[in-house]
Order: sequence, then structure tokens, then C-alpha cells
Amino acid sequence: MEDYELLMDLHKGANRQGPGGDAETEKALSLAMINRTAPLRIADIGCGTGASTLLLARLLNAQITAVDFLQDFLEVLEGRAENMGLSERISTLCCSMDNLPFEDEEYDVIWSEGAIYNIGFERGVIDWNRYLKVGGLLVVSEITWLTAPRPSELQKHWEGEYPEIDVTSSKIRVLEENGYTPIGYFVLPEHCWSENYYRPLQDGFEDFLNRNGNSEEARAIVETENQEIQLYKKYKTHYSYGVYIARKLG
Ligand SMILES: C[S@@+](CC[C@H](N)C(=O)[O-])C[C@H]1O[C@@H](n2cnc3c(N)ncnc32)[C@H](O)[C@@H]1O
Repeated sequence: MEDYELLMDLHKGANRQGPGGDAETEKALSLAMINRTAPLRIADIGCGTGASTLLLARLLNAQITAVDFLQDFLEVLEGRAENMGLSERISTLCCSMDNLPFEDEEYDVIWSEGAIYNIGFERGVIDWNRYLKVGGLLVVSEITWLTAPRPSELQKHWEGEYPEIDVTSSKIRVLEENGYTPIGYFVLPEHCWSENYYRPLQDGFEDFLNRNGNSEEARAIVETENQEIQLYKKYKTHYSYGVYIARKLG
């Protein structure tokens, strides 16, 4: 198996593939002041197995396009939507977020939890703007520095992983300079990482290794995930995901 197939195998049984939480998705909805009864068109980009898609479908009167470039994740999402009686509100789209087949001003809301980093925050904010109606909302979570002084080990790690990581004020400036007015922001609390994401991930390590014959490649993936978890435990006061809510200007 290729590494990406192993990673997919490790993550696809989980409710979410990154830090987040239902309460935090609802908090973002409140800050966005979204009318829960108005008919809306929403794109959830980098939806994974659908933690946010399913909640939005449940809470809103919306038609949601759930986008991910991994078909396996979308199939899990479809199964979950069916079990929850939400299939009619959700259509899946297997496609890369840098090549979306959307029309200009097609959506009222673009939602993306823990995924915009895949094309980079600034590029996503700029590229996705045209798919939003004027007055439409962008809601994205993005890895963010919480402190200006930072330990060098941590700085070096993230400069290697995602050089676009930055402080909140810089992320907000990117929104302001690219056709949005920021209307809300908050930081994902620790339980979104430890209880909602890392704990279920760790609980799945043993089965994952067994399924994959305890191969060297599978063990390397578990080792990398464990290192990421240790780094978070050590330095969690310095970084988290920021949730950014912004309205498209006319
Ligand atoms: C950290 S996960 C977050 C998933 C989900 N939003 C959540 O919060 O549980 C990032 C997601 O982005 C997807 N992804 C990565 N690169 C992508 C791309 N270029 N186009 C579309 N999806 C992508 C991954 O398959 C994965 O599902």
C-alpha cells in the first residue's frame, strides 16, 4: 500500500480527520449569524468523512456540496448521511480544492474545517472568493500561532510543515486585503485536539497496525502521528486552529 492509502485507512473510520468539534461548528454558525431557516447553498471544502457537513445539514435549511479529493472519505460520508436521513441535503464531489468546478457566486457559504492549508490560506481565501455571492460567508479554520515568542523547536517544525502558519492578526489582514470583512474569530479549545481528534486516533492505532500486518510503513505512520501528538502536548499554549468568519464584500 502507498503511504496515502495507509493514511486514508488510518483516518477513515474516525468522525473527524482534524481538530474540531460540534459545539465549535455551532459557535461558528452563531458568530456568522446564519439564518437557520433560509434556503442556503453551502460548499464544505475538504470535508473528510463529514463531521461538519452532517451537522450543518442537520441544523440548517441548506443544500450542501461536500468536497474532498479522497473518494473513500466521501463514501463514508454518504453512508453516514443515509443513516441520519440527511442524504437529500448533501451531494458529494470528489475533486481537488484547487480546481473546483463551481460557478461564480454560486454559494451563500463556503465552509472549510482544517483543510484550507492544503492549498494555503491566502490562496484559498483569494481563489474561493468568486464562488461566494456578495454578502456570502467564508468560515474556515486555520492553524494559527497563539503567541509571538515561540520555542525554536516548534518554530522549526511548523516552518517545515506549513510555512504559512502565522498569528491571528496576519490571517485577518489576508482576509481584509482580499475582498472580505472579518466578522468573527475564536480559537479551538484543547478538547477539540485531545478528546475529539487525537484520542480516537490513538484508540485506532492497534487495529490499524493489525489490519496492515504491522508493516514498517504502517508503524512509521503511527510513529509520525505520535510525534505530532507529543509536540501538541508540549507546546499547545503556542498554537491551535483559529476559526475565521468573514463576509464577502461587494
Ligand atoms: C485535516 S482533514 C479535515 C477533514 C474535515 N474537514 C474535518 O474537520 O474532520 C483535511 C481534509 O482535506 C482533504 N484534502 C487534502 N487535500 C485536498 C485537496 N487538494 N482537495 C480536496 N480535499 C483535500 C483531505 O482528504 C482531508 O479530508
